[in-house]
Amino acid sequence: MKKELKVSAIKDGTVIDHISPGKAMDVVRILKLEDYDNSVTIAMNVRSSLFEKKDIVKIENRELSEEEVNEIALIAPESTINIIKNYEVVEKRKIELPDLIKGILSCMNPNCISRREGTPKFIVEKKKPITIRCYYCERLMEGDEILKRLRI
Ligand code: CTP
Ligand code: ZN
Repeated sequence: MKKELKVSAIKDGTVIDHISPGKAMDVVRILKLEDYDNSVTIAMNVRSSLFEKKDIVKIENRELSEEEVNEIALIAPESTINIIKNYEVVEKRKIELPDLIKGILSCMNPNCISRREGTPKFIVEKKKPITIRCYYCERLMEGDEILKRLRI
């Protein structure tokens, strides 16, 4: 007999699917789901095809703001956002990294002007792996450097 434990469907809310394995908890932190009142289901290392694994985060009764989607794009650019209404997927969108990122993280250069005034801005130089350049001091940031400087 084939035994399988399935993660249950949700009635209303958002499912962030196809998150790279290991990144689910970063998504949880970005969305501050530790303090969220409704159900949150986190699945890690779920087999998605024969060779691939993924993480999934399901959030009941919540839709994401554009800013939240952009933050998720920075750490899980390959993920998909599904909006669920009455158990049906009513909208599915592949996350897209914007060309310009504003305000959601700070520059890693301690002397950068954006650390003292104004809104930090970054130009997306490369999408894979994500590399961003500070609009003000031109410092390049990638990988964990980005994660560490997210304002979460
Ligand atoms: N889902 C859910 N609750 C629902 C409907 C869907 O939690 N009521 C979840 C599914 O488990 C899946 C995601 O939302 O993780 C997308 O659902 P669906 O589009 O039905 O799955 P797939 O066709 O496999 O999606 P994709 O093509 O994006 O891989
Ligand atoms: Zn800078």
